[in-house]
Amino acid sequence: MAKRLLSGIQPSGELHVGNYLGALKRFVEMQGEYETFVFVANYHSLTTLKNAEEMKRNTIDVVKDYVAAGLDPEKVVLYTQTDVPEVTELAWIFGTLITMPNLMRAHAFKDAEARNKEINVGVFNYPVLMAADILVVDADVVPVGKDQQQHVEMARDIGNKFNNAFGDTFKIPEPLIDEGTSVIPGIDGQKMSKSYGNTISLFGSDEEIKAQVAKIVTDSKGVDEPKDPENDLVFAFHKLFSTNQLPELEKRYREGGLGHKESKDILADNIIKLISPMREKRESISDEDAVEILRKGAEKVRNIVAKKLEEVREKAGLI
Ligand code: ADP
Ligand code: TRP
Repeated sequence: MAKRLLSGIQPSGELHVGNYLGALKRFVEMQGEYETFVFVANYHSLTTLKNAEEMKRNTIDVVKDYVAAGLDPEKVVLYTQTDVPEVTELAWIFGTLITMPNLMRAHAFKDAEARNKEINVGVFNYPVLMAADILVVDADVVPVGKDQQQHVEMARDIGNKFNNAFGDTFKIPEPLIDEGTSVIPGIDGQKMSKSYGNTISLFGSDEEIKAQVAKIVTDSKGVDEPKDPENDLVFAFHKLFSTNQLPELEKRYREGGLGHKESKDILADNIIKLISPMREKRESISDEDAVEILRKGAEKVRNIVAKKLEEVREKAGLI
């Protein structure tokens, strides 16, 4: 039997090229080899997004993004967390197995703390729900960006704890991190993230892409001055999007003569070339198509999840 892949993205805003390279593109590449489950993490999003219209819009949009990026809805099981509310039941059970100090070390929690945000219990429990998402389908592999690696490791811990307490029940999943694309920088040099306002949109218009690229932070070196490509954020993006021109660009950086403006124009063109076929495909997917894709996916995943929960309740004596 094919191994199972599971991953999810929160519908908390427009997807960006970091989501694409760190996650989506990899699901697309692996969908032929694995039995693939990809969902929209709307319960997770509720920790930050409290607006019903936006939540609905973003959820449909993420489904369109998935398909436009190349996920085949005939092959891949696409659904929302709400389609399998059992994950919240499982998260409760898992919450009784993991300690508070452990959760206080979680990335999402520490990030919220560092940003001085008021932290709701949902943010604190975030990795527990994520463990339920993963373990409930007995995923073998979970492709994610570096920021999520620790959360997948917590899912492994939780799975082991349950198995030790109640007998072998869950598969222990492997995080799949791709070193080359594990942390895509944002236009300010921090990790690119929907919540930091530093993104390059995956489905932006040409004008939006150009405007976002124009804002990439650079030093103030003039056109003729030599520049160190290893210390240049625009060049870091060239490494991702201008692979064919890389030797030539590197030479021009080192020799001088390539200004930041021209370098950014080249970069924006290359990003637009990469995303325009996906953007076109996205135009052809209606809201109704997205809803229908979710309906079919929900049907497929519900069976698996219902059976797993029955097993879990029985093992734990929850009658
Ligand atoms: P965001 O941080 O923008 O809210 P999500 O948390 O929804 O993104 O992440 C969805 C997926 O995209 C996860 O697998 C995450 O690891 C990946 N991802 C997000 N940002 C990046 C990035 N800057 N570089 C690489 N992967 C990323
Ligand atoms: N926490 C993930 C993120 O923000 C989204 C997510 C929720 C997820 N559950 C998951 C990713 C399970 C992989 C597997 O990116």
